[in-house]
Amino acid sequence: MKNILITGGAGFIGSHVVRTFLTRHKDYHIFNLDKLTYAGNLKNLADIENHPNYTFIRGDIADDKYINELFEKYRFDAVIHLAAETHVDRSILEPMDFIKTNILGTFVLLNAFKNLWNGNYEGKLFYHVSTDEVYGSLPLRGNGDELPKFTETTPYSPRSPYSAAKAGSDHLVKSYFYTFKVPVIVSNCSNNYGPNQFPEKLIPLVINNIRNNKPLPIYGKGENVRDWLYVEDHADAIDTIFHKGTPGETYNIGGAHEMKNIDIVTMICDIVDKKLDRTVGTAQKLITFVKDRPGHDLRYAIDFTKLHDSLGWQPETTFEEGISKTVEWYLHNKEWLENVISGEYLKYYEKQYKQINL
Ligand code: NAD
Ligand code: TYD
Repeated sequence: MKNILITGGAGFIGSHVVRTFLTRHKDYHIFNLDKLTYAGNLKNLADIENHPNYTFIRGDIADDKYINELFEKYRFDAVIHLAAETHVDRSILEPMDFIKTNILGTFVLLNAFKNLWNGNYEGKLFYHVSTDEVYGSLPLRGNGDELPKFTETTPYSPRSPYSAAKAGSDHLVKSYFYTFKVPVIVSNCSNNYGPNQFPEKLIPLVINNIRNNKPLPIYGKGENVRDWLYVEDHADAIDTIFHKGTPGETYNIGGAHEMKNIDIVTMICDIVDKKLDRTVGTAQKLITFVKDRPGHDLRYAIDFTKLHDSLGWQPETTFEEGISKTVEWYLHNKEWLENVISGEYLKYYEKQYKQINL
């Protein structure tokens, strides 16, 4: 049995990664380490919380002493590191937690992993989950037909405190490979969507606001483009890279589905209207153009040729299928939405778990 530490497993992507690994790999014990910030919700994992190969640990990745004791106690063979502060708008308003968790927290984990194995890295791996936002912003037009995309060799050019903090963590991870030979892998993924995403991010926010007949805020003119990937496909890519990837390498993960924000929002409006048996066009009336986000990146697009050609991965879910499933999930999980918006879900932990005493 291998001990695998997944950080941030109570969050959006982490919860899907925990489930994917528990379901597919019977010889792993999965430890989910999560601070349970506003974004961490154990209800995301209610279906697997009693699985014999699963342990939840509440803790802060930036707490050096606690993390080193935890690594000594459980001797994690591998780390899949997702814990982070993730919302760009929050990073503009309150950047401090982004620096603490994304930079300091990543450093603490890396160092604990290095101290634990101390040069004996056979069969060990530190897998760092990152974002395409570290590469900066792409133009909407290229030279000729082909629009530029981010590849693994695109120079880093982060433009928000969130992406700058993620870039810092990526560099630290790579530095441990070159300096200390710690086996690390970094993957940089495009925007995810799907069940369990906190309704501050565009897609769940729009679905929830339509439900509540509230305005749908679109920053600027809604011309910004993101490359969307269904969250279960991201979990599948992480599984593939974790098992087949080469230490020291970076892999880009993308959805091959670029869309302007305004087109996504319009599409969601029409899907919700149809699912609720209303006249199509009803929800679109809620669209409201608001002041643009400062430093708003214009376009993200991922070239995942390396991942496809070397490890055989490609996204399986079409955007039409994924967005329909996502809308359906939010419409049918009113209690989840109401709980996360009211903060009621944070009490769930207190009832279910106790801090593991080391
Ligand atoms: P999320 O905000 O939904 O979840 C983050 C999780 O980390 C939460 O459960 C939170 O409680 C936990 N956490 C935060 N600070 C912590 C700390 N100090 N110690 C321990 N746990 C802590 O995030 P997400 O959208 O699921 O993103 C997960 C990872 O994937 C992040 O590293 C993010 O940068 C990366 N990523 C996200 C996207 C996306 O579209 N959401 C795309 C590419 C990469
Ligand atoms: P978001 O979900 O915050 O992800 P990210 O900024 O990490 O890409 O935003 C996706 C896009 O939607 C981004 O271009 C900002 C835009 N947006 C809005 O127009 N209105 C909103 O209320 C939000 C949250 C985002």
